[in-house]
Amino acid sequence: MSNPPPIDITRQAPAKLNLGLEVLGRRDDGYHDLATIFLAVDLCDVVTLTRSDRLDVRCSDSRLEGEANLVWQALRLLQREIGIASGARVVVQKQIPDAAGLGGASSDAAAALLGARELWQLAIPDNRLAMLAGTLGSDVPFFLLGGCALGRGRGELLEPLPFPTGMWFVIVVPPVHLPRKTATLYAALRPEDFSPGDRISAQARRLRSGQALDPALLGNAFCRPLLDLAPALRSLPDAMTRAGAPLVALSGAGPAHYSVVDDPGHAARIAANLRAEMGNGATVFVVAPWQTSSPVAGRYDGA
Ligand code: C5P
Repeated sequence: MSNPPPIDITRQAPAKLNLGLEVLGRRDDGYHDLATIFLAVDLCDVVTLTRSDRLDVRCSDSRLEGEANLVWQALRLLQREIGIASGARVVVQKQIPDAAGLGGASSDAAAALLGARELWQLAIPDNRLAMLAGTLGSDVPFFLLGGCALGRGRGELLEPLPFPTGMWFVIVVPPVHLPRKTATLYAALRPEDFSPGDRISAQARRLRSGQALDPALLGNAFCRPLLDLAPALRSLPDAMTRAGAPLVALSGAGPAHYSVVDDPGHAARIAANLRAEMGNGATVFVVAPWQTSSPVAGRYDGA
């Protein structure tokens, strides 16, 4: 006898950091090939899906409610793909700052796909779910996998890497808002921002063999265009250094910056210094890598 269908499903949707990001070049389809290392961290939104006859997305941030939310688009795509009429009432409790380079919207969408598969009891396999995820956004497939992964192609070709331990991150999110941020920053890249992906390959080799993260390999191709478009950010690395951050790196297309240390007390002290210095000028988090309890199995190679 099969189990009765669940009435509701709650999933944690973690943020991600990019442990380095290289853009290799522009493709004929308008996207860019990149090489990056994604790491899920324990700053999580919470996505709850309840059975319903229609699709309805509520959010603790009222600006992100309804059809504009990637969660709504994810569930509509899944309904169409499967040809089902089942609906869901979804509530998204936001913790991850919006459009910060931390992947919040993509993570919520991946949590919704996984949650709906369970709620609607769909027999859709992982690789088909990953294909749908890739059409929603380039980093949505990573959030089906979670943990730590090497990302290539648009970001959707993923190779799991060993889960790193003994790292604490201080994330600083300044209040910088650029319209259509990701597309704008990709469009602002110049040939000199492109690189062949060797630094990310070297970092991935280190992580595969259990070596510590090399801070010299955390560069991000979006640093130059981001600072050109948002010059107010130029003072942020110095402020982080003054607060005790041993290094400063950029996540995704920003504006979230982070530092990494090997001791939680050290991370807390840097965060306290930053909060004291920056006040309302930035939101500061201390996070650790987040291990997904039930990752989507296997390797997604886009096949
Ligand atoms: O895939 P996503 O929806 O996050 O992409 C938003 C925009 O960023 C795309 O429309 C494209 O302009 C740009 N992009 C890109 N190359 C990538 C990912 C995104 O050019 N690998």
